Amino acid sequence: VTYSAATSPKFAATLHEDLAWRLLQGLARSASRGVRFADGAGVVLDEHDGVRCVAPDRGWFVVRADSECGWEPSAALTAAARELLDMYAPLCVGPRSGELVLAHLGQSLDGRLATVTGASRFVTGPEDFRHMHRLRALFDVVLVGTETARIDDPQLTTRLVPGRQPVRVVLDPRARLDHGLRVLSDGCAPTIVVLGTDAHAAAPQAEHVDEVRVTYDGGALDLVETLAVLRARGLRRIFIEGGGITVSRFLEAGLLDRLQIAIAPKIIGSGTPALTLAPIEHMAQAITARCRRFTLGADVLFDCDMRAARE
Ligand SMILES: NC(=O)c1ccc[n+]([C@@H]2O[C@H](COP(=O)([O-])OP(=O)(O)OC[C@H]3O[C@@H](n4cnc5c(N)ncnc54)[C@H](OP(=O)(O)O)[C@@H]3O)[C@@H](O)[C@H]2O)c1
Repeated sequence: VTYSAATSPKFAATLHEDLAWRLLQGLARSASRGVRFADGAGVVLDEHDGVRCVAPDRGWFVVRADSECGWEPSAALTAAARELLDMYAPLCVGPRSGELVLAHLGQSLDGRLATVTGASRFVTGPEDFRHMHRLRALFDVVLVGTETARIDDPQLTTRLVPGRQPVRVVLDPRARLDHGLRVLSDGCAPTIVVLGTDAHAAAPQAEHVDEVRVTYDGGALDLVETLAVLRARGLRRIFIEGGGITVSRFLEAGLLDRLQIAIAPKIIGSGTPALTLAPIEHMAQAITARCRRFTLGADVLFDCDMRAARE
């Protein structure tokens, strides 16, 4: 399809926040379908909000798929549009964008996700919540562990931002979740419950709920198999929203492409830990990640490229 400023109503001399956000969503949808934009391609939106490649000087931005930031401007853009593209473009273009697995945790200065009672509202601030809703909208799946579903009873919707609703996935290897939880009963979005193969109970019989069975051995759900089952359903971009045990297990299994940790200037002093991994003896064994840093209100977000991390 040939696309030009002359034929498109969507051409913008200045890229503002709304257009930048729609472009990012278009790029994320393309990534989910396995489309890769060549390094150096200009990109714009067509009249159906699909992404089109154009000459670099005609694009809203130029894809820099091989660079850390993922893009470079080619049109004039507002500060808000620039912030959005800085944060999210690398998650939508680039070599692994088609099957990206990203986890996010919001923790205190002392590495806690919640108090001893499990209360986690609100460790991080409203900017980080909005960020999480944006992440939901850019991924095919938002996935949480059993305890997060049980304690928080989240809706896992994109209600704070305009955007596509992802499929909700809840890990429940031992089928112990109450069927009255919102994700299992509200019908707001398709929901998949991942049960262990030997779990005695079934997921609730609701139109929006589907169950899949995955190998559960020695207290561990097979996460490679879990991702394979989701990908077989066309769900390739996975956002893991916690909690700490779930993210730690994905990290330990080497399945995270990116790990985002938002740190709030608070000290809880006790309660649910963020990451818990096997003990190490020497600092040389610590995972050293290449990170980008962003300010989200009072919080600082570290966006770590785990594929470039090393022990
Ligand atoms: N601040 C934040 O960003 C944030 C985000 C999310 C949650 N939270 C808070 O964190 C707390 C929950 O986190 P959490 O770390 O305790 O629990 P979690 O990660 O939500 O859930 C852990 C449970 O999920 C199941 N599970 C997950 N991965 C598994 C695997 N690979 N194999 C087997 N089972 C697996 C297990 O269930 P079984 O026990 O049935 O085997 C496990 O006990 C809540 O208080 C919530 O409010 C905070």
